[in-house]
Amino acid sequence: MLILDSVHTYYGHIHALKGISLTVNQGEIVTLIGSNGAGKTTTLNTISGVLPARAGAIYLQENARSGGPPAHPGRANDSDIRLDQLPAHQVARLGVSQSPEGRKIFARLSVQENLAMGAFARADADGISQDLERVFQLFPRLQERLSQPGGTLSGGEQQMLAIGRALMSRPRILLLDEPSMGLAPILVQQIFQIIREINAQGMTILLVEQNAQAALHIANRGYVLETGNIVLSGDAQDLLADPQVAEAYLGI
Ligand SMILES: Nc1ncnc2c1ncn2[C@@H]1O[C@H](COP(=O)(O)OP(=O)(O)OP(=O)(O)O)[C@@H](O)[C@H]1O
Ligand SMILES: [Mg+2]
Repeated sequence: MLILDSVHTYYGHIHALKGISLTVNQGEIVTLIGSNGAGKTTTLNTISGVLPARAGAIYLQENARSGGPPAHPGRANDSDIRLDQLPAHQVARLGVSQSPEGRKIFARLSVQENLAMGAFARADADGISQDLERVFQLFPRLQERLSQPGGTLSGGEQQMLAIGRALMSRPRILLLDEPSMGLAPILVQQIFQIIREINAQGMTILLVEQNAQAALHIANRGYVLETGNIVLSGDAQDLLADPQVAEAYLGI
């Protein structure tokens, strides 16, 4: 569904992504793990069009968009859409939705208004209320706090709101940046359980995490990022068993 082909991203002269290639297939949870400063957020921001790719290409597969199997899974076809040429608002309209690092919810808007912002590009009132119901099923806490300003929510509730807001665009692919960051262990478990549930309902997910252990437990596949390069990739189970991963990222 999503293909990154040798993507390079810079901050001025700083070469942050040095030729990243990865794929996310329809229905998968793919995780991108790596330490501080590895380039995880930069990767998601480049996909979503917040940052420009200076070289390489990012494709959204056309066939995946219409629900059929792609003619050539895992590599670009003529009909695929080049995302790296597009501004962020167009990438969002094509169905790529990001829950950003640090949540970035609108502190003075209510929970309800924050969720409405996620649906700003939609005009299908029926679909929007269906999706709102779905978000409330996933996160009953949000329904209890509908009129409360986002800034007064707890860290865990703000994370739920950020994910809920991202879901309100009815995306084809969800980009999650460190959903477990700063949460108490019990909430971390709950958030990962909910991510699994969202995926079970059919959502394709690219999950960025420093909590490699938890991320690899719910993911199908993973990529390990080090200083702007992918150094390892494979089935999540294989990565969990990999001594290099265990030592560097699982604290074993
Ligand atoms: N706005 C910026 N200006 C200059 N350099 C930046 C900027 N944002 C990030 N960088 C640099 O790009 C590299 C990748 O940063 P990025 O935020 O993508 O890492 P990350 O893997 O998300 O780390 P973390 O786990 O801490 O969130 C780092 O070396 C960082 O210092
Ligand atoms: Mg980051």
